[in-house]
Amino acid sequence: MLERLRDDFKKVFEVECTTNYFSPGRVNLIGEHTDYNGGMVFPCAITYGTYAVVRKREDRIVRLYSNNFQNIGIVEVSLDALVFDKKDDWANYAKGVMYFLQEEGYNLTGFDILLEGNIPNGAGLSSSASLEVLIGTICKEECNLSIDMVEIVKISQKAENKFIGVNCGIMDQFIIGMGKKNHAIALNTATLEYVYAPVQLDDASIVIMNTNKQRGLADSKYNERRGECEEALAILQKHKDIQTLCDLSVKEFEEISHYIKNEVILKRAKHAISENERVKEAITALENNDITTFGKLMNASHISLRDDYEVTGKELDTLVSSAWKQDGVIGARMTGAGFGGCAIALVKNDKIEEFKTNVSKEYTEVIGYAPDFYIASIGDGARKVC
Ligand code: GLA
Repeated sequence: MLERLRDDFKKVFEVECTTNYFSPGRVNLIGEHTDYNGGMVFPCAITYGTYAVVRKREDRIVRLYSNNFQNIGIVEVSLDALVFDKKDDWANYAKGVMYFLQEEGYNLTGFDILLEGNIPNGAGLSSSASLEVLIGTICKEECNLSIDMVEIVKISQKAENKFIGVNCGIMDQFIIGMGKKNHAIALNTATLEYVYAPVQLDDASIVIMNTNKQRGLADSKYNERRGECEEALAILQKHKDIQTLCDLSVKEFEEISHYIKNEVILKRAKHAISENERVKEAITALENNDITTFGKLMNASHISLRDDYEVTGKELDTLVSSAWKQDGVIGARMTGAGFGGCAIALVKNDKIEEFKTNVSKEYTEVIGYAPDFYIASIGDGARKVC
């Protein structure tokens, strides 16, 4: 892959590149829509991701080219004039990271960069966060910045929030920056304290199921959910001294939930708080090698996202309910923001082929087009590679 990208670089920029980088995508095992509510998440980085080949420049020009968006061509920007421009499409994520690095006082110099990702775009496996953290890592290495990965993670999230306008939490950027091979991260999003948890599934694998649904209004619906949670928090704060929804246990929430009169807002808060407890139980289950309980918590997570948070939709529900019926399935749920995108299932290895055939058949019959499947290997976070 990298060798081909080095050749492409030479064709596109007419010079040789000097360095190579990789930044992963992610799946979240459990803990959805908790990361902007001060809750726990439990994601892992995957070996699908974004590759980049780079050459440093001596001036303040950055030239960006993606093999995934060849129609957009080379996007050329000056580090002194980084503004959002719709026509630059994917390159805005890169511009946002460079913009906020400079705003924080880091000195950048220009570079040429050619990218190619093998994470399906818009599939909810964080192709955008992968790109953001990749750019942060490239800036660090090429410009010799003294910045640690958690800072790159925070700046990447800021770029997505303030440059792109998607009010995402910190989960995606964090796991993409900090991921570790064969481990998930148990991250407390209120404090950013984290623990690496080995994921040993013995005779099972994580199967990613892509709905292949185009996620039209996903960003605005995401922001809407976030707003609903803020509304719930404001009501509950009048009655209890809390900073975030996930400061409450399910039991504490039940004692004061009657103050929320709007049924929709009530359901949103219920999801966030119950999901946070499920994550904690799931982490303990995995520690105890109790994969069966882990799987049941995944299923419960999907049901809560379907009924209370209402972010699944027909495609994800069809995939997941079909997965639940198959032999050898330990658990299945949507992963990421929802509204289309991907689901994951833990499936016994000797049943995977049968699983794919059956789920694909049922999904295609109901939805009218086929899903895709990928087996996820858990890999390391964003880095310079040889
Ligand atoms: C998206 C966001 C994350 C998180 C998930 C839902 O992936 O980028 O911050 O909120 O949705 O859990």
